[in-house]
Amino acid sequence: MKPSILVTRSLPEVGLNKLKEFFNVTLNAEDDVFEKPKLIQKLKNKDALLCLLTDTIDKEIIEAGNKLKVISNYAVGFNNIDLAEATRRKIPVCITPGILTEAVADLTLALILTITRKILPADHFTRAGLFKGWSPTLFLGEELTGKTLGIVGMGRIGQAVANRAKAFGMKIVYYSRTPKDIPDAQAIALEELLLTADIISLHTPLTPQTQHLIGQEQLKLMKRSAYLINTTRGAVVDEKALVYTLKHNFIAGAGLDVYEHEPLLTEGLTELQNVVILPHIGSATVETRNKMAVLAAENAIAVLQGKKPHAMANPEIFKK
Ligand code: DGY
Repeated sequence: MKPSILVTRSLPEVGLNKLKEFFNVTLNAEDDVFEKPKLIQKLKNKDALLCLLTDTIDKEIIEAGNKLKVISNYAVGFNNIDLAEATRRKIPVCITPGILTEAVADLTLALILTITRKILPADHFTRAGLFKGWSPTLFLGEELTGKTLGIVGMGRIGQAVANRAKAFGMKIVYYSRTPKDIPDAQAIALEELLLTADIISLHTPLTPQTQHLIGQEQLKLMKRSAYLINTTRGAVVDEKALVYTLKHNFIAGAGLDVYEHEPLLTEGLTELQNVVILPHIGSATVETRNKMAVLAAENAIAVLQGKKPHAMANPEIFKK
């Protein structure tokens, strides 16, 4: 008999087909986020769980997985999972790093360009029939060449953003907890980065240490002309403090792909003109989402075959 897997949401075909070769697959037919009681009920007697960052996999859910041998998250981030509980039960938590680096880095640059060059208001203006001809003062934005990009979190995605920004002639400074040797980029303290960068881009994962890393106090340090870009996890920023800061033009603007209480947005955010808000589409390219589906499937299969998966959030399990 094939082992069983619960897949909490519809996935790209390539990943599902891979899973079907190895598992009896139970798919979420509704293609929405399972309510907790339903997830608990569906997880009973399943050998594996393939979940999304929108599923909160807490202690109670892990406990309900009476036969659970692997949790494969369709994401590089894993803040949606009680990692300590999974590790305590020796359940590998698999993730999909590496393959979404380029897509997220591309979107980060897209956000930077969109906010600094006023792309959205300019598009709306044109569609509204207001374009009456070229003007020397129409939608003046800012140039990236010569500006300083401050990267918070210099992992794979941070480095991919830095490489792109260098091609735009930007100077790169970064803050990283672990020392890194990055060519043409200067490591500095977070406070100095906040004080000096023209654009600040967040790429640190969400952990208890990075929650609200950028709060009122940090936002106050930023230059009035600076922009904040967030494509990592919403809760790295105190969103209420950000809305207040943007509302009073204490910084020039922000480009956001992620939110503190996703999918809910902090009151007032959508009324602001100095922010670009996207619906968490950092990794949303056909290529990347297909690769993520295959990797998440391969990770789950590997564990059930007694092999080490490609990437885990709790690799210590396999060292023992
Ligand atoms: C991740 O994988 O953590 C991303 O946020 C999903 O695109």
